[in-house]
Amino acid sequence: MAVLHELASEVAGLVPGAPDRVGNVLDEVPAGLRRPLAALAEPDRAPFHCLVDVSEHEPLTALPPTPTADSPAPGGHWSAGLLLLVAELLGDLVGYADENDGALIHEVSPEPGMEEYIQNVGSSSLGLHTENVHHPLRPDFVSLLCLRQDPDDAAALRISSARDAVRHLTPGTLDVLREPLFRSLYPTSFGLDAEGRRPVSAPHPVLAGAPDAPTVRYNTHNTTAVTGHAARALASFGDALDRASRRIRLRPGQLAVLDNRSVVHGRTAFTPRYDGRDRWLRRCYSLSGVPRGLSGLMSRPRVIPRLPSLLKSLDGLGPAPGTTLRPGPEGGPR
Ligand SMILES: [Fe+2]
Repeated sequence: MAVLHELASEVAGLVPGAPDRVGNVLDEVPAGLRRPLAALAEPDRAPFHCLVDVSEHEPLTALPPTPTADSPAPGGHWSAGLLLLVAELLGDLVGYADENDGALIHEVSPEPGMEEYIQNVGSSSLGLHTENVHHPLRPDFVSLLCLRQDPDDAAALRISSARDAVRHLTPGTLDVLREPLFRSLYPTSFGLDAEGRRPVSAPHPVLAGAPDAPTVRYNTHNTTAVTGHAARALASFGDALDRASRRIRLRPGQLAVLDNRSVVHGRTAFTPRYDGRDRWLRRCYSLSGVPRGLSGLMSRPRVIPRLPSLLKSLDGLGPAPGTTLRPGPEGGPR
């Protein structure tokens, strides 16, 4: 994968302002990365996630310290370029204006004093969840590149697919989970409303799509039911996801790419040391296609506008070729 490292280093500088220009070199990405991503992007999405080792020949021994707010990662690092290549092979790299000020590459690293936060800066157990569960335009894919595992080797990525979980549930429970009887609080990484509260989504189903390949919209911490029988179905679904889950201890140089429509993910707890050698993943989001008209609403390339203005505009947007945009219970995209 030496070629991959050279490509990634070349394109890293494009991330903040000109990700479109990376298209010129996508054909040069080695097959060892292209093939698993192509399989993941197939319409039947059978694999739901893939794990690729990009560590060979990569300069993982010369990493900068694990970043914190006071000591951010250096710009232009090859790892940002690698994530850009991955995101663009899957669709379009995107960020959210409401989250990390629209950053396209996110640091998943512990922050002093934020151990219990249910987000990328925490280190306590993070329950299974759909990324950005509250959002009408959720990422289709979430990519996590491990640069450092925690020194105690305690932290593990957890994943669970809706397809495996539903095998543990009764038809009656599955019917309830397909009704718009659930709401999801905005994650803490998104902003508060004018009253300083965490906003909540419109009612939505937890499951959708084909019975043998369902899509999922669920967050252990943030999704709640609006009726008693929906609450029982939600609890059963949480148990089923736990039963179907598996753990992956990511190694430096391993890239995990998750189909955010079909699998939920989480993380086991670990203890940070704040010595520059803590666990460090870098994360990015991809959409299979940016909905037609949305690019014109972006004040910065690939940054999805803040939700209030996005929701006002959604009715006027149509799906782009190949996009997963489709009507949802909020009246906007799923
Ligand atoms: Fe996540």
